[in-house]
Amino acid sequence: MKTVVSGIRPTGQLHLGNYFGALKNFVKMQHDARCYFFIADYHSLTTHPDPEHLHGNVQNALAEYLAAGLDPEVATIYVQSDLPQTAELSLLLSMHAYIGELERTASFKEKVRKHPENVNAGLLCYPVLMASDILIHRADFVPVGKDQEQHLEMTRKFARRFNTIYGVDYFPESMPYNFGQELTKVPGLDGSGKMGKSEGNGIYLADTDEVIRKKVMKAVTDQGPTEPNQPMAEPIANIFTIMKIVSPEDTYRFFLDKYNACEIRYGDMKKQLAEDIIKVVTPIRDRIAEIKSRQGYLHEVVTAGAERARLSADETMRAVREIMGIKPF
Ligand code: ADP
Ligand code: TRP
Repeated sequence: MKTVVSGIRPTGQLHLGNYFGALKNFVKMQHDARCYFFIADYHSLTTHPDPEHLHGNVQNALAEYLAAGLDPEVATIYVQSDLPQTAELSLLLSMHAYIGELERTASFKEKVRKHPENVNAGLLCYPVLMASDILIHRADFVPVGKDQEQHLEMTRKFARRFNTIYGVDYFPESMPYNFGQELTKVPGLDGSGKMGKSEGNGIYLADTDEVIRKKVMKAVTDQGPTEPNQPMAEPIANIFTIMKIVSPEDTYRFFLDKYNACEIRYGDMKKQLAEDIIKVVTPIRDRIAEIKSRQGYLHEVVTAGAERARLSADETMRAVREIMGIKPF
């Protein structure tokens, strides 16, 4: 069975893009591979979150992922800082990570440009820590978006370098896993190509019905088609794309036929879309609330998760120490 690792930054709430673009695939994947999913709280420290909020953010991310279908009985779900072996591996791997290559990382350069006042060593070593998350379980696959591919390339470089320097064949070459055809991109309703946190156009799994209706009714539209089968402008195509994802096939067809016949009423379509989004979101939102109300449940999940993660991490650390020459007396 293949091993899969993925880290989740505990920043903000999940939106439909995260759910349909990533999480739903994780939920399916957990049954087909040995999966480790963790909340990357060490990584989030690079941007100095308020200590008052960090734990709440971790709890929130965890509750949302569990509510969306990650099953702690099936996958190993843990908090990164509950597995300090990751930090030890990161220290050891950093001995063979060169300042030049770290400085050339695109994500680092972007941080330097955006936040010149906070160029800390943790940020520089972000790719080493991420490689450690992955290599601590000797992962075969890492399901990540395009923006993370360079980090994954560096992970493979560090793994190969370790194997070469010490003349071993210990670390695998962890490959990106992009779910082939199934990768769904969720557009924004503001006419833009992507729904995203930073785009400020998210419809969140925790949004109330009223908020969802308001957001959907504000979706950008146009005057409507003036001749049959007219190509769609991007904002309209986006509404149809989201409808295709959340609504029953015949609802989607109904509005597409109306569009092609120049009889579309965007108001009706948006009302229908809002109700269909609410249908998808309601059970997840209810589970988020339920999980948060069950004192102790999250504690149980992460305790059991860390224990399981430790089995594989301890095995890796024993081998790595031995390979590098750190031996017990
Ligand atoms: P955001 O862009 O809102 O900051 P993240 O970068 O934290 O979201 O993304 C977390 C995961 O969700 C990634 O795997 C990413 O590919 C996926 N994702 C985010 N937005 C979308 C979207 N609009 N459509 C599809 N997948 C998305
Ligand atoms: N860097 C990833 C992100 O920004 C999060 C992450 C940290 C991660 N460690 C990982 C993802 C290990 C996959 C595997 O989304």
